[in-house]
Amino acid sequence: MATRPAAAKPVEELDLVEASEEHAALGAEIARHDALYYQQDAPEISDAEYDALRRRYEAIEARFPSLRTPDSLSLKVGAAPAAGFRKVRHAVPMLSLANAFTDADVEEFVARVTRFLGLPDGAPLEITAEPKIDGLSISLRYENGVLVGGATRGDGEEGEDVTANVQAIAGIPRRIDAPDAPEVLEVRGEIYMSHEAFAAVNAAQQAAGKPLFANPRNAAAGSLRQKDAAVTARRPLAFFAYAWGEASALPAGTQMGVIEAFARWGFPTNPLTIVARSAAGLLAHYRRIGEMRATLGYDIDGVVYKVNDIALQRRLGFVARSPRWAIAHKFPAERAFTILEDIDVQVGRTGALTPVARLKPVTVGGVVVSNATLHNEEEIARKDVRIGDTVEVQRAGDVIPQVLGVVPEKRPPDARPFVFPVTCPACGAHAVREFNPRAGREDVVRRCTGGLTCPAQARERLKHFVSRNAMDIEGLGEKQIDMLFDEGLVTSPADIFRLDVEAVKAAEFRRRRELAAKRAGGEGGADGDGGLAETAEAAPQRPGRGAPEYRSVDRLMETIDSRREPPLDRFLFALGIRHVGEATSRALARRYGTMEALLKRVDEAIAGRPGVALHRLEAVAGVGPTSRRKLLQLAAEGGLALETLRRAPAAGLKAAGLNRKAVESLLAAFGDGETLAAALVEAAAHQPGEAWLEMAGLQDVGPVALDALLDFFSEEHSRAAVEDLLTQVRPRPLEAPATAAESPIAGKTIVFTGTLERMTRSEAKATATRLGARVASSVSRSTDLVVAGPGAGSKLAEAQKLGVPVISEEEWLAGLPGGAPD
Ligand code: IVH
Repeated sequence: MATRPAAAKPVEELDLVEASEEHAALGAEIARHDALYYQQDAPEISDAEYDALRRRYEAIEARFPSLRTPDSLSLKVGAAPAAGFRKVRHAVPMLSLANAFTDADVEEFVARVTRFLGLPDGAPLEITAEPKIDGLSISLRYENGVLVGGATRGDGEEGEDVTANVQAIAGIPRRIDAPDAPEVLEVRGEIYMSHEAFAAVNAAQQAAGKPLFANPRNAAAGSLRQKDAAVTARRPLAFFAYAWGEASALPAGTQMGVIEAFARWGFPTNPLTIVARSAAGLLAHYRRIGEMRATLGYDIDGVVYKVNDIALQRRLGFVARSPRWAIAHKFPAERAFTILEDIDVQVGRTGALTPVARLKPVTVGGVVVSNATLHNEEEIARKDVRIGDTVEVQRAGDVIPQVLGVVPEKRPPDARPFVFPVTCPACGAHAVREFNPRAGREDVVRRCTGGLTCPAQARERLKHFVSRNAMDIEGLGEKQIDMLFDEGLVTSPADIFRLDVEAVKAAEFRRRRELAAKRAGGEGGADGDGGLAETAEAAPQRPGRGAPEYRSVDRLMETIDSRREPPLDRFLFALGIRHVGEATSRALARRYGTMEALLKRVDEAIAGRPGVALHRLEAVAGVGPTSRRKLLQLAAEGGLALETLRRAPAAGLKAAGLNRKAVESLLAAFGDGETLAAALVEAAAHQPGEAWLEMAGLQDVGPVALDALLDFFSEEHSRAAVEDLLTQVRPRPLEAPATAAESPIAGKTIVFTGTLERMTRSEAKATATRLGARVASSVSRSTDLVVAGPGAGSKLAEAQKLGVPVISEEEWLAGLPGGAPD
C-alpha cells in the first residue's frame, strides 16, 4: 500500500516527529518496491518514481542525521532470486551472443568466419538470419521423446529448474512423437509474450487490482517464474525454438535442417528464418525484418546470424561465452530528448571518476531513464555539455543509457559549464589522469589516488567481489554491502568470511529497534515479549535462535560458508584487478591451476618484468623485432658502437644496420643520442624474463591485463589483502571441461609449421588452446610436439635435431577428442 503523503511538505519544513514518521513509512515502501522489482518481476512504479522516493528518503536523513539507520537495506530484500526454484546445471552451457551494430560489423563477422575457416575470400558461405526475440531463453530437455526438464538460462552454467512451469505452457510440446527423435535432446529457444497477450494480462491484473507489468519481457519472465505452475498455465506464453543443447543425435547437418525438424516435431519456429550466402544477403534480410518490426506482434531487438553448416559451427567453436559462428545484429538504440539537471561524479572500483548525468525523467523505448553516463571529462568538453542543457539520450539493450549530445539552440542563458573535480568526491585524495606509456598520452579517465583508503573504491570492490559472475554470494547485494560497510562490519573481502552471525543480527536488531522506536513516537525498544500482536509486530524480536525475522541472516551465513572453495577463475575475477576480466581470469586459472602456482609465477614475472624503456622502444613505429634485437644487443655490449650512437646517433644507428625510416623515428621519439643510448641501456638491462614471456604469451592475457596483474601483486596492500583472504577461502582448480580432461595434449607446448590443409592457423591454435596446450612459434627443447604440413622447413629440421615428436595434420586431427571433424 502506498504510504507516501499526498502533498509532501518541503523537507526543510518537517519537524523531527513528522520526519521520523515519514522516514519510517518511506523505508517500508522502498523495501516493498525492492521486493516487487527484484523478487516478483512486477515493479509497480517507474524508475523515476522509485528514485524520487529514494531521494526524499535521503533528503530527510540528510536533514535529520539521527534518523540515519541503514534502513532501506533490510537484509531480507534485494537482488536475491525468488525462492523456491532449484538450481540446475546445464549439460551444455547456454551461451550469449556477441553483438554487431553496423553493416561493417556484419561484413567483418562474415570475413572473420571466412578467414578462420580458411575459405577463399568471397567464397559462398551459408549463414542463417532470423529475428532476435526479446523474451527469456529456456532449455527444454526431452528424454525418449518426453519433456522431462525445463531450465532458465541463469548465468549460463546454472539456471533455475522451471520444469513444472514449462510443462504448463500450451505451445511447448509435452512429447515428441517422431521416429527420428533422438533419445536425448535439449531444445532451446525463447519464451515470450505477444503484444496482444501482454495487453490482456495487464488488463486482468488491473481489474484484479494487481500490479501491472512494465513490458512483455517482464510479463513473460514473471509468468514463467511462478511457484504455482497453474498460474503459468493461465498466462498466454509463447515459444520459438532456435537452438539446442545436449543431443544424442541431430536430425540434420545444418542449422536450418535442425530447425525444420523441430518444426516437423511440433515446435513453433520463426517463419522469418532464411539462409543467405553473403553479408549483403544478411543485411537485406535485416532491413526486411526491421521494416516488419512494428507489425510482428511481438518484441524483437535485432536479427541473429548463424553459420548454417553444423560441422563448421563445431570447427569455429567459442570465444569466452559466445560462439564464433553466430552474432546478434542489434537494431539501433532508442533515443529521446530531455533536460540535464545536474552532473554527479561516481567513484568506481578501480578509482575511475565517472560523470553521471541526472536527467529529468524521460521514457526511452518504454523505460524511464533518469540517469545516463557522460563517460569522462573529455567527452563532456567535446560535446560541450552544460547543466541545464537539453540533451539527447540513448538506451541500447541492457547497457547504461548515455548522453549523445546537446541541442545548442535550446541552451538556456543560465546553463552552467561543469568543472570536473580534481579531488575524489568520496575520500578527498587527488584525482589524476595517469600518463599511459603505451598510448603516449594521458588517460582519458581521471582516477582517485586514494587506493585502498578510499571508501568508495573499497565499497565498489566489495560489491564486485560478491557479484554473480564473481563469488556469487546471493543475499549479499549492493545494499547489504552498503549496510555492512557503514556498520564497520565488512571493509575487506576477507571480512565477509569472518562475519559473526550474532554481530550481523545485532546490527539488524539495532536497525529495527530504532525504526520501531521512531514509529512508536520515540519510546524505547520493547523487547519483543510484550504479548500483544500489534506490539510484537512493531517491536523487533531480539535475535534469538530461529527468530523468523533473522532467518535471512542465517541463510546468508550459509551462503557465505558455501563459497569458501570458489573455482580459481571466479576467485581471480572477484579480486577486481583492473583489466583482468573473466576471460583473462579463466586463462590464468587454466594455465596455473592453483593460486600458489599462479602467485609463484607472478612473482617470477615481476622479477623479470621488462622496463618501461623497452615498452617505449616497442612503441616506435618502423622499428621491428629484428632492429630492436640489434639495438638491445648493441646496448648490452656497450663499447665503441654505443659511444658512437651516443655522440652521432644517426651514424651510430646506420652502422648498426637500421634503415633510414627507423633512424628517423627513433630520433623523433628519443630526441638526442644521449637519451636514446640511455634508454637502450635501460631496456637491455630490463629485458623480459622467461616467466614474463610465458604469461604474455597466454591467449586472453593481453599486455595491458598482464601489466595490471603484475602491478596489483607488486602492491603490498593488495598482496596483503589477498593473503588475508586466502586464510578464509581456498580457491579450487577448475573442473577442466571434458575435452581438456581427456586431452592428451593438456599442458604441452605445440608448434605448427608448414601448410595446414584442413584447418587455418588460428583454428589450429584455438583448438590446441582449448585442449589445454600452449602454442609456440619456434621449436626449442621445451617443445613437446610439432605438427608439420607440406613445405615445413627449418622448424621441422630443428625438431628432428632435438628429437621432438613430429606428426602430420591428419594425425593431429585424428588424435583430437571426437576425432577429425566431419
Ligand atoms: S541463438 C549459441 N537465436 O539472445 C547461441 N538467441 O544475446 C544461442 N535470443 O541468450 C543463442 N532470439 O536468449 C539465438 N533467434 C535467436 C534468439 C536468441 C533471442 C536471445 C537468447 C540469448 C540471447 C543472446
